[in-house]
Amino acid sequence: MPGNSFGECFKITNWGESHGKAIGVVVDGCPSLLSLCEEDIQKELNRRAPGQSEVTTARKESDTVEILSGLFQGKTTGAPISLIIFNKDFKNEDYQDLATTFRPSHADFTYEKKYSIRDPFGGGRSSARLTAGHVAAGAIARKILAEKAGVEMVAYTKKIKDVVATVDVERLTREKVDTNVIRCPDQYAAEKMTALIKEAKEQGDSLGGIIECVVRNVPLGLGEPLFDKIEADLAKAMLSINATKGFEIGSGFAGTEQYGSEHNDPFVVRDGKIVTETNNSGGVQGGITNGMPIIFRVAFKPTSTIQKKQKTVTLEGKEIEVEAQGRHDPCVVPRAVPIVEAMAAVVLCDHYLRNKMLR
Ligand SMILES: Cc1cc2nc3c(=O)[nH]c(=O)nc-3n(C[C@H](O)[C@H](O)[C@H](O)COP(=O)(O)O)c2cc1C
Repeated sequence: MPGNSFGECFKITNWGESHGKAIGVVVDGCPSLLSLCEEDIQKELNRRAPGQSEVTTARKESDTVEILSGLFQGKTTGAPISLIIFNKDFKNEDYQDLATTFRPSHADFTYEKKYSIRDPFGGGRSSARLTAGHVAAGAIARKILAEKAGVEMVAYTKKIKDVVATVDVERLTREKVDTNVIRCPDQYAAEKMTALIKEAKEQGDSLGGIIECVVRNVPLGLGEPLFDKIEADLAKAMLSINATKGFEIGSGFAGTEQYGSEHNDPFVVRDGKIVTETNNSGGVQGGITNGMPIIFRVAFKPTSTIQKKQKTVTLEGKEIEVEAQGRHDPCVVPRAVPIVEAMAAVVLCDHYLRNKMLR
């Protein structure tokens, strides 16, 4: 009910606040006998951590994870796995004004009106710091999928403002994505994107963009009718990430410009296997995976907290101007790449385990 948990068989429950003592996640439903250690989770968290480069927030958090439960002698026991990350670098003084003011397009106004109480420090519960829990849980989901089915997922920055990367998704690897701070394997586009973000940051402004994710070796048959279709659950997972404004799978919105004869994916036999010649479906038909790669995109808006004067109102309803303080991401996209991968892993692992129970 309160919206802090996600998943049916592989269920994650996220807790904590940006500037509280700690943040964390409880993962319930992880099968027993999976080898797991803190390093498996830490390497994923390091990709999301703040303070990585000049195009991200300057907040420095090591995001060191500790596993509190669910393991015995390095293997999962089938019990809930509780993960904790202590918060270290917080500057509450930067957020003092925000206790009585609403940042335009952030969650301050809606949280205040809904709950009549709000932790303003670092955005409290609405902060994207909480997505460290998504990434930690995603690391476990990713390991299950990789070991049991060979599934792999790679996301990258496809677009920042109006600069679009040209990328061959069939040859996309995580190593290529991580060659630059933007997480864009097209080096030429990455340089232009970096320059754009730096320029926006110098002006106290922010930018948005698009992340594309490809999932390979997806088992055929994941996804349930009618409401738990793979694309429906992926959309929910992606749109649950902070600052997202759009989701599309396969041809997405561009497919609306084609004829059916162009858009249909013809079936063919290759190496004794039924595959589709094209993949406008993005690997999902009728809500169920067809064995082709899943390809989807997520749109992120420009970061709402900016160092420019903007109109807002106070708690008492007085119109004023606000210019935010504090350390913020001038563009959330590079740090959101591992979050997109993690939530894709959570969705697919959940459906993988559901499928095992049903059939
Ligand atoms: C990785 C990541 C980092 C973010 N960093 C910031 C930030 O530094 N400042 C900010 O105002 N918003 C940041 N956001 C977005 C806010 O958390 C989000 O806009 C806010 O919670 C309001 O929710 P909404 O934009 O989804 O409506 C970030 C989002 C992500 C995914």
